[in-house]
Amino acid sequence: MADKYSLTNSATGDCVNLDLVSGTDGPSALDITALYKEKGLLAFDPGFVSTASCTSSITYIDGEKGILRYRGYPIEQLAAKSNFLEVAHLLLYGELPTATELVDFESIIMHHTMIRETMRTFFDGFHYNAHPMAIMIGVTGSMSAFYHDSLDIHNPRHREISAHRMIAKIPTIAAACYKHNVGEPFIYPRNDLDYCGNFLHMMFATPCEEYVPNKTAIEAMNLLFILHADHEQNASTSTVRLAGSSGANPFACIASGIASLWGPAHGGANEAVLKMLEEIGDVSNIPKYIAKAKDKNDPFRLMGFGHRVYRNFDPRATLIREMCHKVLAEISDKDNPLLQLAGELEEVALKDEYFIERKLYPNVDYYSGIIYRALNIPANMFTVMFSIARTVGWVAHWSEMISDPSQRIGRPRQIYVGAKQRDYVPIDKR
Ligand code: SDX
Repeated sequence: MADKYSLTNSATGDCVNLDLVSGTDGPSALDITALYKEKGLLAFDPGFVSTASCTSSITYIDGEKGILRYRGYPIEQLAAKSNFLEVAHLLLYGELPTATELVDFESIIMHHTMIRETMRTFFDGFHYNAHPMAIMIGVTGSMSAFYHDSLDIHNPRHREISAHRMIAKIPTIAAACYKHNVGEPFIYPRNDLDYCGNFLHMMFATPCEEYVPNKTAIEAMNLLFILHADHEQNASTSTVRLAGSSGANPFACIASGIASLWGPAHGGANEAVLKMLEEIGDVSNIPKYIAKAKDKNDPFRLMGFGHRVYRNFDPRATLIREMCHKVLAEISDKDNPLLQLAGELEEVALKDEYFIERKLYPNVDYYSGIIYRALNIPANMFTVMFSIARTVGWVAHWSEMISDPSQRIGRPRQIYVGAKQRDYVPIDKR
């Protein structure tokens, strides 16, 4: 007998019984299907703060305890022991690969990194200074114009081929965005390099001389990609699921995820953090900006702080902060003023009652931009980096949703607060 909750209308005594739905970890939920079916009532939850949109086996987050697990494995263990393509296999297939499976998966991905030669002409349609996220949305969406042979979303093999193509080609498209911005020739992918080394090579190599990606830079990219790979039903993943629920092809769905990620409240925050740190400029200005962040009449927010789910700390921020110190010590300047300012700002904010009361802590975006900057990646490419990693999560969720036999088109309702019915008024009477 499933647990039930009874809801009673305190005025009429009318009552409805709702089933309790529980998973393997985390909060249970009320199945509110009966609410509309039997009582014609909707649940109202702007921003889905307290709504579970689906069941999923991919990622688990506990906001109070700062827990993040991919397919049950703690993010701290994956960050310390795994690499991005092994994590991609885990997210996509649900299990860590055997040694043979990993070799095969890496080979499949690394041998699908080229994009159609005619796709390269799309970049010429963008002005050289187009924001790379705008180019990413356009070129990724255009993939459905090229890969017709794997668009039957109800064919598991087609889903797998599309997932492989997306994961393999997104770094190539990303690096091409950067090369278009800087006016340099595109660099073809190299099958002899690993995923992160190949990406850095496509970003920074030129036809003029040999370029060998720095080992610490490759280590930092692996960590950042692992930490950004998935995060359950965040805004961009929910966008991909909603787009996919209509039966749209996977490339169009991933393009919709990139569009949603671009917002400064979401993946665009890493670029916004760097702009904010540069605007603050010096530790002496911190009090002024903390005051601005607290001022309800000021739209300024402390970018890289706060999270819808994490109400204690974002485990990813802790791991990125550690890598930040390592990268700056080895690659960039130890006393990088931005890192010092970020550290000081974090310290001041975490002692301030306003942030403590609202449980606002540094999130995944707070330190990542400082590492990207140290790797000579420009700020307008930071969210592009996020989208490379999150493509794995997006295709894993898309595939999980499409292969769920109970899946149907997503169609939220609303509370209508507009005009009552009224008659048309001829223009000479208005
Ligand atoms: C990501 O969902 C995910 O999992 C996302 C992500 C992922 O991996 O996919 O983790 C990646 O998007 C991380 C978040 C990156 N965004 C930012 O760093 C932008 C700055 N943060 C905020 O905009 C905000 O904290 C959000 C968007 C992250 C969360 O917004 P919520 O949950 O809707 O919180 P809220 O806006 O209701 O804020 C609650 C209170 C408000 O004050 P009161 O009205 O209660 O007085 O906290 C305040 C807010 O004004 N507040 C902030 C703040 N964030 C919240 N005040 C100052 N600075 C901030 N950053």
